[in-house]
Amino acid sequence: MSEAGEAAAAGSILRVRGLDAGYGGFPVLHGVDLDVSAGEIVAVVGPNGAGKSTLLKTIFRLLPAQAGSVRFDGADLRRTPAHGLAAMGMGYVPQENNTFPDLSVRDNLAVALRGQNPIEIRRKIRAVGEAYPALAGRMGQNASTLSGGERQMLALASAMITSPKFLALDEPTTGLAPSIVRERIDDILRIRDAGTTLLWVIEESPLLCLPHVDRVFVMQAGVLDPPVTSQAVLEDAALHSLFFGVDQAAEQSPD
Ligand SMILES: Nc1ncnc2c1ncn2[C@@H]1O[C@H](COP(=O)(O)OP(=O)(O)OP(=O)(O)O)[C@@H](O)[C@H]1O
Ligand SMILES: [Mg+2]
Repeated sequence: MSEAGEAAAAGSILRVRGLDAGYGGFPVLHGVDLDVSAGEIVAVVGPNGAGKSTLLKTIFRLLPAQAGSVRFDGADLRRTPAHGLAAMGMGYVPQENNTFPDLSVRDNLAVALRGQNPIEIRRKIRAVGEAYPALAGRMGQNASTLSGGERQMLALASAMITSPKFLALDEPTTGLAPSIVRERIDDILRIRDAGTTLLWVIEESPLLCLPHVDRVFVMQAGVLDPPVTSQAVLEDAALHSLFFGVDQAAEQSPD
């Protein structure tokens, strides 16, 4: 590991070492090493099927690791069940099925707080309404009636309502119009400014998203390369078209 890599590892809130995982007998991740330091925004980028979501699912104990370790805040997660991670300060917004479409916005938020005292639940839901005004007027609506951007806002708010120290986001802006992507980026930056460390999987809108991250890990075929700057990824035309497959001019054009 480089000197800079060692320094980052020393202050890591999340430390992944030699992680192998996959589905049944099919291996996907191969010896993944990843460090995220407190206060950073770290991105994971890579083409479709590279294993980005598999990495998050394995970190969050939804898939068993076949080898390697994940430590959070110094604790080895090998024996921690997935449902125990929120209490440790870990939040996760999956790529798919990240809201309950048949529940109201209010109940989506309440589910994240199940087990807490009802007065606290009401207080925290009111605070979400203040932080995300677009949700405030929609508390009684089913999540299925929200737009794509609003659903991602609800998924983010449902994760933030537990006040995590660390939040992993799996493609929170994919499929959204550029103006809405900018709104979700503002939400993400506010979360970072309030002290939450972020691991952000980015697949679309690299020109909009990557300038805001501190370091970028590139994943290809289940192998995670050592981190580089976002500028290095954006300036490498070959990486750009391979990973994102988008026309830069199209991304920069207004809605
Ligand atoms: N539930 C599953 N069962 C079997 N194979 C799976 C499953 N989920 C993903 N895979 C396979 O694992 C590999 C990695 O998939 P993964 O979803 O982690 O990629 P990704 O980088 O998140 O892609 P995308 O950018 O499309 O979200 C792919 O070959 C995929 O087909
Ligand atoms: Mg994915």
